[in-house]
Amino acid sequence: MNDELQKKVAEAIRDPKNVGEMADADSVGTVGNSECGEMLRLWVKYREQDGEKVIDKASFQSFGCETAIAVASLATELIQGKTAAEAMEMKPEELSGELGPLPPMKIHCAELVQGALRDALSPESQAVGQAESPAKPDGLAPTLRDSLNEGQAKSGSINIQFLDE
Ligand code: FES
Repeated sequence: MNDELQKKVAEAIRDPKNVGEMADADSVGTVGNSECGEMLRLWVKYREQDGEKVIDKASFQSFGCETAIAVASLATELIQGKTAAEAMEMKPEELSGELGPLPPMKIHCAELVQGALRDALSPESQAVGQAESPAKPDGLAPTLRDSLNEGQAKSGSINIQFLDE
């Protein structure tokens, strides 16, 4: 990673936006990269605007990689106000926003964010996300860590989409 990009990533993760689970989310998507072990979960909430359903807000949780965190932070800002169809069309380099083009070895970090976003935006995920994310006693949906722990204890209880390499 060049110095310029390193600086931008460091800046983005110094104060990442929209980190954490969203209790009132309409849908949730989760992806994992089998090669680097990174996992990312993204929550989406919609609102009505001019007769259209647009993304009101989005949040994420991630393990590990700084680039994926930086891209997720930027992407959750960039998709606000877009329809699900518009956000679905966004390419990894668009989701990376001001980070600019990522080096080949880091492109999969943005693809991880794209994968989680597409999973959250898919119509099936809305039902799956709710079915697989029963509220905890405190009323909040389970965190990524909760789900992973639960997934280890009870195989098949988490919907993780591993991206093709
Ligand atoms: Fe794998 Fe960034 S190193 S997602």
